[in-house]
Amino acid sequence: MNNFSNFFSDLDKGELKIWDLLAQGVVNKKSKFHTPTLSTINGNMINSRTIILRKVDNKTKMLFFYSDSRSRKVLNIIQNNNVTVHLYEPRFKLQVQLYGHAKIENNSEKTKNIWSSLNSFSKKNYLSALSPGEKIDSLDNIKYNTDNEEAYCNFSLIYFKVTKLECLQLSDIKNIRVEFVYTESSNKKYYMVP
Ligand SMILES: Cc1cc2nc3c(=O)[nH]c(=O)nc-3n(C[C@H](O)[C@H](O)[C@H](O)COP(=O)(O)O)c2cc1C
Repeated sequence: MNNFSNFFSDLDKGELKIWDLLAQGVVNKKSKFHTPTLSTINGNMINSRTIILRKVDNKTKMLFFYSDSRSRKVLNIIQNNNVTVHLYEPRFKLQVQLYGHAKIENNSEKTKNIWSSLNSFSKKNYLSALSPGEKIDSLDNIKYNTDNEEAYCNFSLIYFKVTKLECLQLSDIKNIRVEFVYTESSNKKYYMVP
């Protein structure tokens, strides 16, 4: 049995461990929790991409991401707020699947404060003259605006409210699958057949 096979021998402790790993993922760039995959719905298609985890709030079961307001993921979320986040941490043989609803915020006091904390390298991500994903004939067509105010207008905070957290942890002895369901009135936790 590996050292980590007992994350979920106690459901309460296992749940805390996952939220702790998520919180560590915000600051630990080497952690797989730092760069999960965010999937959004685009009509009858699914779009998945890597995104940096910026903040975690265990109390409200929220995750936070940053993106360009013009990006496909933001446009997808505005159309359909059902999203999932997925990651696999091989160190723990642990798959985490988060389900929930996302919300976009921009041009607010909160986004202004976050924006002012970003360095100029990060701000450049929001300065492309053309929208992210637009097709171009040549790399020379990638132009950046220099206006800080314009870049700020392109900056979006993505809130992700987790309604279900599912984990599968593999081990030589016994695979363990668990589910944590978060509703306004109650939180539930279950073991599942792996
Ligand atoms: C390691 C890594 C981290 C990334 N972090 C972000 C991020 O925090 N926010 C973001 O919008 N895109 C991020 N991206 C880029 C996205 O994966 C994606 O390519 C881009 O945002 C366009 O996605 P979309 O067209 O589906 O919206 C990251 C990509 C990589 C490889």
